[in-house]
Amino acid sequence: MTTVNGAGVVVTGGGGGIGRAIARRLSADGARVVVNDLDAGAAATVAAEIDGFAAGGDAGTEQGVRDLITAAEGHLGEIDIYCSNAGTAAGTGPDTAEDAWQRAWEVNTMAHVRASRALLPGWLARGRGTFVITASAAGLLTMLGAAPYSVTKHAAVAYAEWLAATYAHRGLTVHCVCPQGVRTSMLAASGQAGRVVLTDSAIEPEQVADELADRLADGRFLVLPHPEVLDYYRMRATDTDRWLRGMSRLQRRIEAEEAG
Ligand SMILES: NC(=O)c1ccc[n+]([C@@H]2O[C@H](COP(=O)([O-])OP(=O)(O)OC[C@H]3O[C@@H](n4cnc5c(N)ncnc54)[C@H](O)[C@@H]3O)[C@@H](O)[C@H]2O)c1
Repeated sequence: MTTVNGAGVVVTGGGGGIGRAIARRLSADGARVVVNDLDAGAAATVAAEIDGFAAGGDAGTEQGVRDLITAAEGHLGEIDIYCSNAGTAAGTGPDTAEDAWQRAWEVNTMAHVRASRALLPGWLARGRGTFVITASAAGLLTMLGAAPYSVTKHAAVAYAEWLAATYAHRGLTVHCVCPQGVRTSMLAASGQAGRVVLTDSAIEPEQVADELADRLADGRFLVLPHPEVLDYYRMRATDTDRWLRGMSRLQRRIEAEEAG
């Protein structure tokens, strides 16, 4: 259970999409919010709107995360809630260039490792801290047409689980946000696979932020704004072959629609 009112909060990728909705919701709930974004202007716009603090920069590099946390601590004093939300959906299959695979790893996975490395000593000393990782339903299941995304989001879920398992008894609360389609610029850029798999059930970024607010209040690890994801996740675990056959049917549908 995390108290949002009065909390010092950082949101990476807070200049748009899900991150902006999280920044707005937590601010409305009384948090003091530092808004990070690769697009410094977008971070500044959101920060101005919510009376927050803008910290432009790349959350996908080691230096960028370090600079962000230094700037945020300078503004907030202590960071109580860190929302490691920025992500990249670049890449397709195994032919994706090596540097794009590496970038996916840096932004979608290592960003969380680096932020927790900087924050954990203070949180463990104080006996409390809340770390929110925006992974994806792709991290519990898979996303067709997006191998680097699926692999690095699985790693993000694995890291969130590892953190929770290792530090819960020392006061760390971890949440892992796993939506399917959310109407943001990332979904708009997701191509035929996104249209076939995600569009019909897509939700607004504000619904993700509301679900996160509920989980911050009750302390549960998984944030699932699409409740059906839990059913798919269960099926994947208990009848993996049936789940894979269903995914293969979807893949054939994507290919058929691509062929026109
Ligand atoms: N949109 C979806 O359907 C969906 C579904 C599941 C999970 N997610 C995840 O939610 C998170 C947010 O995605 P979104 O849909 O809001 O995307 P978005 O593209 O709409 O917005 C992302 C914001 O993050 C910023 N950003 C990108 N890379 C950054 C970096 N390295 N450092 C700092 N800022 C950066 C962008 O400038 C942008 O303002 C991502 O981790 C994404 O993988 C999105």
